[in-house]
Amino acid sequence: MGFLDVIKHRKSVREFLDTPVEREEILTCLEAARLSPSACNSQPWKFIIVDDRQLKDNLCQVAFKGVYFINAFCKMAPVIVAVISEKSKFIARIGGMFRGTKYYLIDIGIACEHFVLQAEDLGLGTCWIGWFDEPAVKSVLNVPHNKKIDILIALGYYDKKKLKSEHDREPLEKISSFNSY
Ligand SMILES: Cc1cc2nc3c(=O)[nH]c(=O)nc-3n(C[C@H](O)[C@H](O)[C@H](O)COP(=O)(O)O)c2cc1C
Repeated sequence: MGFLDVIKHRKSVREFLDTPVEREEILTCLEAARLSPSACNSQPWKFIIVDDRQLKDNLCQVAFKGVYFINAFCKMAPVIVAVISEKSKFIARIGGMFRGTKYYLIDIGIACEHFVLQAEDLGLGTCWIGWFDEPAVKSVLNVPHNKKIDILIALGYYDKKKLKSEHDREPLEKISSFNSY
């Protein structure tokens, strides 16, 4: 597939097949994330891959209870990836403070999208998950209290026939302009 085709095919997947994902495929996605750019090359991320069935079930049970129930579909996914923001390099943090920009979140966003697009290229579906019980997930995964899990990614094979074909997006004219705002 060409690069733009991969982007066009990627949609949030909320229904997964009960098919395990090979470690090799996961490692390829991680490699794509590892090669992401980041402010001052800080690489302020750590990915915890949860592919042990029992652990993943436990995690989903606590992560998506109560007000987070809307994301309970993640239970279907054979893999959940927890993305932790690690400390950026000093210079990136200082620069970010002066600019009022959270570079580390941009960095994590890029790395996650590398992961997600690589997954799509391998025929795997993903869904970014920002709404979950973070303290509960931290406890299941032994993540220290002073760390932050900014995002989860649900990963697994999916039925391509079931996915909507169109992206719901603003037109190019609305989101871009040449040479002036
Ligand atoms: C940072 C972020 C957080 C998201 N959190 C959730 C979430 O908690 N639950 C969910 O079902 N989708 C979540 N999504 C997926 C978006 O709803 C989805 O990307 C958007 O509606 C566009 O649809 P598409 O991904 O199919 O193109 C999230 C996406 C991003 C980028």
